[in-house]
Amino acid sequence: MKTITSFVKMKTNRDPIAMVTAYDAPTAKAAAKAEMDMILVGDSAGMVVHGYDSTIPVTLDDMVLHSKAVKRGAPHIFTVTDLPFLSYNGEFAETLQSVKRLMQETGIQAVKLEGAGRTLSVIDRLTQSGVPVVGHLGLTPQSVGTIGGYKVQGKTEESANQLVKDAVAIQESGAFALVLECVPLQLASHITDLLTIPVIGIGAGVETDGQVLVFHDIVGFSDGFVPSFVKQYADIQTEMETALLTYVKEVKQSIFPEPQHTFTMNQEIPGTLYK
Ligand code: KIV
Ligand code: NA
Repeated sequence: MKTITSFVKMKTNRDPIAMVTAYDAPTAKAAAKAEMDMILVGDSAGMVVHGYDSTIPVTLDDMVLHSKAVKRGAPHIFTVTDLPFLSYNGEFAETLQSVKRLMQETGIQAVKLEGAGRTLSVIDRLTQSGVPVVGHLGLTPQSVGTIGGYKVQGKTEESANQLVKDAVAIQESGAFALVLECVPLQLASHITDLLTIPVIGIGAGVETDGQVLVFHDIVGFSDGFVPSFVKQYADIQTEMETALLTYVKEVKQSIFPEPQHTFTMNQEIPGTLYK
């Protein structure tokens, strides 16, 4: 398994880090087969798996369940799990308990926390306790209510400056990597150059140290909105819908099951069979 040292080396060698989300054993297994460098058990599960319209309703129990399944599917891939909304801004003892559950019950390697500000001291205390932490800046979906929607961050000089300062502060707090979401290429590139820890972008251009995307977006497993920064490499949704439609049709017309899907006896049905 790769380690946080591997990821710093990859940054130094300009060897881009490939990361994808996963939520269950089969998606994790597919990621492992593709030799993914890192898996994120994202709280995007709330949207792509559970049908919520944001990550706000996702609970720690949800993340524990998803993390367990992902580790069963990809035991040898370095896995990061999102700490859910409001699970790390209260009492530190409670945060520690949540992280303890995630790491000991599921076997994931690191946790991701959104934002700077009050999150900085949490990152600091977690890393002091030996917990590998990934930061997350730019568009931070758990703050969608205070940001006022899903939009590109750091477009003005003032907000760009704040983002750069926050990125440096996250590195200084001990995070081993930073996810930058929905920021202009130039700003993402500047932050990538400035930091010694790997910067993993999503909607942040090609110059970051790596990329992360939502599994379902990559394979086209959704009939909903797809952000413009996503590249869809397959159209699984259409494949699935066609398969299911054909199945229903064949059941209704008694075409399925065919002989090769059917068990038969060697002899005639015995006359002694209960009637
Ligand atoms: O939950 C998620 O999928 C994420 C990525 C988009 C970075 O946090
Ligand atoms: Na997330």
